[in-house]
Amino acid sequence: MSSIRRPTIGVFDSGVGGLTVLRALLNRIPDADYLYFGDTARLPYGSKSAATVAHYAVGAVSYLQDQGAELLVIACNTATALALDEIKAGSHVEVIGVVEPGADAAAHASTKRSVVVIGTEATVASHAYRRALEAKGVAVREKACPLLVPLVEEGWTEHPVTEQVARIYLSEAFSEDSRDADVLLLGCTHYPLLKPLLRRIVPDHISIVDSAESTAQAVARQLQIDPLHTPNDPERRSVPRLKFYATDSAEKFRKMGTRFLGHPVEDVVHADLKE
Ligand code: DGL
Repeated sequence: MSSIRRPTIGVFDSGVGGLTVLRALLNRIPDADYLYFGDTARLPYGSKSAATVAHYAVGAVSYLQDQGAELLVIACNTATALALDEIKAGSHVEVIGVVEPGADAAAHASTKRSVVVIGTEATVASHAYRRALEAKGVAVREKACPLLVPLVEEGWTEHPVTEQVARIYLSEAFSEDSRDADVLLLGCTHYPLLKPLLRRIVPDHISIVDSAESTAQAVARQLQIDPLHTPNDPERRSVPRLKFYATDSAEKFRKMGTRFLGHPVEDVVHADLKE
């Protein structure tokens, strides 16, 4: 897609987690309007089959295109990992998922060429991150951490129970063949909220990489935004229009979303996807 002066970007996730990606997009590309779709009635995607996730995701992105999205960002790691090809096939606009940009950032950060990826059961079982990283010559250890999503949604981002759970998962992840790994790649929308806790658990020499920022950079490249553009310069910053669609309660989305986005989520509409 050639450079659109003020694009409308559609961001899709299974729920509120993708707001961590929207946050990075707003920071990098403020001269855009955003439509965010959270499939809150049907989450979690992380424990579902590829066929189910593809079916849900294709319907959701078609809805976003009907609302005027000119570019689609698949913020959900599970949907990207399991259904990116189907989503692309069912879309008439450009589609960017989080796996490739995340793998790129991790590969750049790893001097030892060895990365540990954590994500949902479905993301790990798909081996999408493994394929992306191995194609860049990087060794990979994948570890499913299914308890972390509900703990983050509970708001327990600094809770001793979450810390204990994360310690168990990470000690399993960084064992034997992955002892050399020097990057931890957060392959799930919810994990950026655990960064401070994870930073305390993993040794200092291990970099923590999440795909939100690198996905925002990939979107900026796609839109041919000047790399010298300084998104945080208040002089140049415009106010993006934000509209949110949720398949479950709009009120619930507003409340929980505010925590994930880092500022108030206001314009939420209930989306009814006809099966
Ligand atoms: N958005 C999902 C992901 O990034 C996590 C939540 C879910 O399982 O639906 O994988």
